[in-house]
Order: sequence, then C-alpha cells, then structure tokens
Amino acid sequence: MTTITFIKPDGERVDVEATNGATVMEVAKDHDMPMLAACGGSLACATCHVVVDESWFEKSGELCEAEEDLLDSAHGLTNTSRLCCQMKVSDELNGMAMTLPPME
Ligand code: FES
Repeated sequence: MTTITFIKPDGERVDVEATNGATVMEVAKDHDMPMLAACGGSLACATCHVVVDESWFEKSGELCEAEEDLLDSAHGLTNTSRLCCQMKVSDELNGMAMTLPPME
C-alpha cells in the first residue's frame, strides 16, 4: 500500500491508502475527494487537475504531449500541475502530496 496526501481546496489534508496500479484519479474518487474527473480518465477533460508538491513533481512521471495540451485549459495551471488520471500509484509515490484546485 502507498500513502498519498490530498490537500483539499479548503486546506484540509487527507492521507489515503492507495493501491498500487490504480490511477491517482481513481484513488481520489474512491475517497470522495472534490474532483470531477468528467471523462473517467480518457484524457479528454482536464477536470482531474492537481498541483503536485514541488518536491514530488519529478517522481510523478513524464507528461505525454496530450496531457500537456489539455493542461493548458486547466484552471489555475502551475509548473507542477498534472492530470492525475495519468499518474499511476506505485511505491515510488509513497508519501506524495498534491493540492486539489477548487472545482470550476
Ligand atoms: S479524468 Fe479527464 S483528463 Fe483525467
């Protein structure tokens, strides 16, 4: 099991146990985090946008071109923004924290 911390828009930190192999978006939805994830992970919406803590961004993995393009339309884009349906949970991510932007 891997622990991931979600920081809600109101600042509340929630530590959750995540199953390796799941996407971070699936983990967020399973734990009722405020996230739309409208396209269900098919890389077509940008409503699974998260801001990864700077110290963890490198470990979050490579962004493909489609993710980068979609992120351009995300509200509140930052240098460490990711679409979390494109991040797979693994031991590498144990302890990772990310902020959930307010839902549009
Ligand atoms: S859930 Fe739509 S792009 Fe991630």
